[in-house]
Amino acid sequence: MTIPPEAYLWFKSLHIIGVVVWFAGLFYLVRLFIYHVEANEYPPDQREAFFKQYTLMEKRLANIITTPGMILTVSMACGLLIIQPSWLSEKWMQIKLLFVSFLLLYHFYCYRIMSKIQSKDFNWTGRQLRILNELPTLLLVVVVMLVVFKNNFPTNAATWLIVGLVIFMALSIQFYARYRRLKKEEA
Ligand code: HEM
Repeated sequence: MTIPPEAYLWFKSLHIIGVVVWFAGLFYLVRLFIYHVEANEYPPDQREAFFKQYTLMEKRLANIITTPGMILTVSMACGLLIIQPSWLSEKWMQIKLLFVSFLLLYHFYCYRIMSKIQSKDFNWTGRQLRILNELPTLLLVVVVMLVVFKNNFPTNAATWLIVGLVIFMALSIQFYARYRRLKKEEA
């Protein structure tokens, strides 16, 4: 059987759609974990209702959005590699696969956190979870740069300037969020 030439483009489009869905799920899931652990600060009579709601939202998000997004990304990537197996001998692809394996570990680690939070056996603070939530951003930036630049991954001054700006923006958002939280606590 011959594979039609446009199959590669179909796989690539669906691969990118999968990536968007997967990351939307990963980002929002850890945000829900933050709300969930911070619900501990609510009055006891309200706490259980919030716990129940966050538990339901987390399960639905993980099983209906995040994991299907991951499966779509990986299965379409397999299709791309079956059509063009020579990618596997490229250095950028080998490095990409290393970072993707970190991302998969992160994905399954989120499931572990979810089950621990839901069984009330989790003692991380919201702040620690906020730091954890930065990890997929970093992996996203590296992986996207690897597929776009391939073996010409830029390491010049302009690149470091852009990386510095991205880190600065991420830190500013964190500090602003922290400032708003402190203000709210004061009020
Ligand atoms: C199982 C793991 C993965 C494999 C084997 C894989 C493989 C591939 C392959 C073969 C291509 C086509 C490259 C080309 O035609 O130039 C591709 C494209 C792409 N991949 Fe992946 N990928 C994987 C996971 C990911 C992840 C996790 C992300 C995002 C974080 C990602 C982002 C992209 C993007 C944005 C493109 C389009 C690049 C372009 O057309 O310039 N991939 N991937």
